[in-house]
Amino acid sequence: MSHLVAPSILAADFANLQRDVEMLNKSEADWLHVDIMDGMFVPNLSFGLPVVKAIKKHALKPLDVHLMIVDPDRYLKDFRDAGADRITVHYEVCPNLHRTIQVIKELGCKACVAINPHTPVLVLEDIIADLDMVLIMSVNPGFGGQKFIQNTYKKFNDLNKLRSQYNPQLLAEVDGGVDIGNAAKLYAAGANVLVAGNAVFSAPDPTQYITELKHAVTVSQA
Ligand code: DX5
Ligand code: ZN
Repeated sequence: MSHLVAPSILAADFANLQRDVEMLNKSEADWLHVDIMDGMFVPNLSFGLPVVKAIKKHALKPLDVHLMIVDPDRYLKDFRDAGADRITVHYEVCPNLHRTIQVIKELGCKACVAINPHTPVLVLEDIIADLDMVLIMSVNPGFGGQKFIQNTYKKFNDLNKLRSQYNPQLLAEVDGGVDIGNAAKLYAAGANVLVAGNAVFSAPDPTQYITELKHAVTVSQA
C-alpha cells in the first residue's frame, strides 16, 4: 500500500488560504486535512463550514475533514455539502458510533474514527470492519505544533492485529507532531497516511517537505 500525506490546513496562513491550497494542489500531497474544533471537545476553536466551502472551491484533492466536535451527528450532512470527501469522528463523542458511521457512508463519504492518546485501539474491535480508516491521535487534539507522544507506536501494534483480522483494506492515519524525523518509523509501524501541519507549513519549502514526507521510507533506506 502506498504512503499518503495529508497536510493540515490548520497550520496554513488563513489570510492566504487560496495561495496555500494552490501550493498543496501542485505538491505531492494526497489529501487536504481539515481540522474542525468546537471549543467543547477540545479547548480550541478553529473554523467552520464557510471556510471548508472556500477551501473546496480551490482544492483539487480530497478534503479529509477531522471533526473534533461533540455530537458530530448534527453536522455530518453540512460538512458533506461543504465539500468533505472523508469524515472523521471521534470515538470519545459518539455513543452510537455504528449509526454515525452508516450515516457518513450513506452521505457518500469515506468513514473514519479517531481515537485520542488515552483511548485503547481495542475499543474499535466491533466496528473496525465497517470503517474506511482509523485515525490515531499522536497528540491530545486541539492544537497544532505539539510534541509527538511515543506511546503511539504501541497503538499501531494493536491496530495492525485488528486490521489483519477484520479489515485488511483499512487505512491507518496518524495525526499530531508528525515530521521528517518520525515519518519513516510511522510508515514502518503501519501508518498509511501522515497528517502534518506545523512541520509542512513552517518548512522553508513546504512542497519539497511534502515530497520528503511521502517518500520518507525510501529516503531513509537509501
Ligand atoms: C490537532 C489536529 C492536527 C494538527 C496537527 O488537534 O488534529 O491535525 O493540525 O498539527 P501538527 O502537525 O502541527 O502537530
Ligand atoms: Zn487533525
